[in-house]
Amino acid sequence: MKPKKTLLALLSLFTCLLHESTIAQQKEAAIEKKWWKEAVVYQIYPRSFKDTDGDGVGDLKGIISKLDYIKSLGVDVVWLNPIYGSPNTDNGYDISDYQSIMKEFGTMEDFDTLLTEMHERGLKLVMDLVVNHSSDEHKWFQESKKSRDNPYRDYYHWWPAEKGTPAFRPGSFEADGSGWRYDKTTDSYYLHYFSNKQPDLNWENPKLRQEIYSMMNWWFKKGIDGFRMDVIPFIAKDTTFPVITQDELNKNYAGRWDVYMASGPHLHDYLQEMNKEVLSKYDVMSLAEGAGMLKSTALNFVDPARKELNMGYHFDGASLGYIPGYFKKMDPNWSLVDFKKIYSDWDAVYDKKGWGTIYLGNHDQPRMTSRWGNDSPQYRALSSKMLSTFLLSMRGTPYYYNGDEIGMVNAKFNKIEDYRDIETLSEYEKVQNAGGDLKQFIEDQKTGGARDNGRTPFQWDNSKNGGFTTGEPWLKVNDNHSSINATAQENDPNSVLNYFRKMVKLRKDNQVLVYGKYTLLDAKNPNIYAYTRELDGKKLLVMLNFRSEKAKLDTKINLKTAKLLIGNYTTSSKGLELQPYEAVIFEIK
Ligand code: GLC
Repeated sequence: MKPKKTLLALLSLFTCLLHESTIAQQKEAAIEKKWWKEAVVYQIYPRSFKDTDGDGVGDLKGIISKLDYIKSLGVDVVWLNPIYGSPNTDNGYDISDYQSIMKEFGTMEDFDTLLTEMHERGLKLVMDLVVNHSSDEHKWFQESKKSRDNPYRDYYHWWPAEKGTPAFRPGSFEADGSGWRYDKTTDSYYLHYFSNKQPDLNWENPKLRQEIYSMMNWWFKKGIDGFRMDVIPFIAKDTTFPVITQDELNKNYAGRWDVYMASGPHLHDYLQEMNKEVLSKYDVMSLAEGAGMLKSTALNFVDPARKELNMGYHFDGASLGYIPGYFKKMDPNWSLVDFKKIYSDWDAVYDKKGWGTIYLGNHDQPRMTSRWGNDSPQYRALSSKMLSTFLLSMRGTPYYYNGDEIGMVNAKFNKIEDYRDIETLSEYEKVQNAGGDLKQFIEDQKTGGARDNGRTPFQWDNSKNGGFTTGEPWLKVNDNHSSINATAQENDPNSVLNYFRKMVKLRKDNQVLVYGKYTLLDAKNPNIYAYTRELDGKKLLVMLNFRSEKAKLDTKINLKTAKLLIGNYTTSSKGLELQPYEAVIFEIK
């Protein structure tokens, strides 16, 4: 062989090998399988799930009594909102003792039983980790505020008053909007990104970090299967607390305080340390509540090579449609085109590495059916099923909020006295102090606002208080429990509940719904959300009509040989025109 030819042959062999190894790598990256990627997570708000002792507050025994129900849903993981010792200023997100159980919820013995019984049923348990702040009633803070030289002083962020007033930081849940509170015992201010009963912990202090890691290890040694980490990007701060001008905020943080708050200098050092000291030792899952997380920063949390966390959830979807200048006032004409773009762009973030999540409701959000579907009697069930089809057919781990599986809807309280949530009460006070329109504020809360919309007690049956409690519920049960409840839906094959079960099973039976490539179709269609999912030669088409009118998809896809896998109508459409709130999934060629 001539040397030139040999060289060419070698070169082509090399290119070929390179090509194959890239394909292999891509394939490998695409199918890095993990149990927490395949899981369907069911979120339980323990306060509102099931009360067994008649005090009007849900409890752990209540959850235990419903484990067979939870298992019957087909879900794999249960995430519990905080169940630790707490004075409940923010319903458990203000923890006074990280290694105890909230009195209203039961005892550590109840917890152990719950965990054992869940594991016996093959269910995993994920707890809420709230370590950006503690309660002001935590013993660390009680000590910290005693004197400037107390050994716990540096567990929190203090600003001595002789330095003047500290630079503005926002404090959610405070009518005056300030994240600093003056404490006269030591003539200092302390930082609280949430209410003044939730002082921020100082992660700069290595002793504090070690306390947190040992607490986390303690729970993992008990056998829990993961943590959902409350506002975790907020833990790192610039502790010189410089003045931040509006210009700087606009330029560097998209004009958003939450992005500034999530961009502390040592954030990823802390998360890597936490991974090393805790998470890496167990086969567990970790989820960041991605407050202030952007598409451009998300992989810093979840790129596996960085050894930090598994997944994060973003707020772009949850913030869509809010009218600027108002508190969570929904634009009734929110754009489906924008909605599709948000979820498609986020899917692309994790196309090569990392892993995403998908949710439409949780304890901080109104009910998904009221916000993204249609809660009128005519369309409630159909639109709930359509939204469940979306959640369970996207790439990313689905987080499904309790009550959504029976199509619960917003409480829509008419008076402020019915609300319990600190956020709504403080926002109401803001409007009141500004002499604003309080009636309008109450109206606005009925669709996009008030977190209590998603927190009303679970509707088990049509008895008094929906079978949630024999006592006086801590938050009113929705009157519609007489018709919307789990018992009524249990034996109806067409119920929202049974559709949810079918949809979970479909995801479990088809890995293409978990790992398959996602491609958006007809992006500009204002009524239909449609996409394909593809894996190893299998291709599914998902079509969802988000409107109360018929709508048609514009695509070249031919449905002649398509096989219907699921649909929310008794008789599904066979073509590209969908009925109101119709959802269908086809297997196509
Ligand atoms: C998170 C929680 C929310 C809580 C806040 C402060 O956003 O989900 O319920 O009020 O953090 O802990």
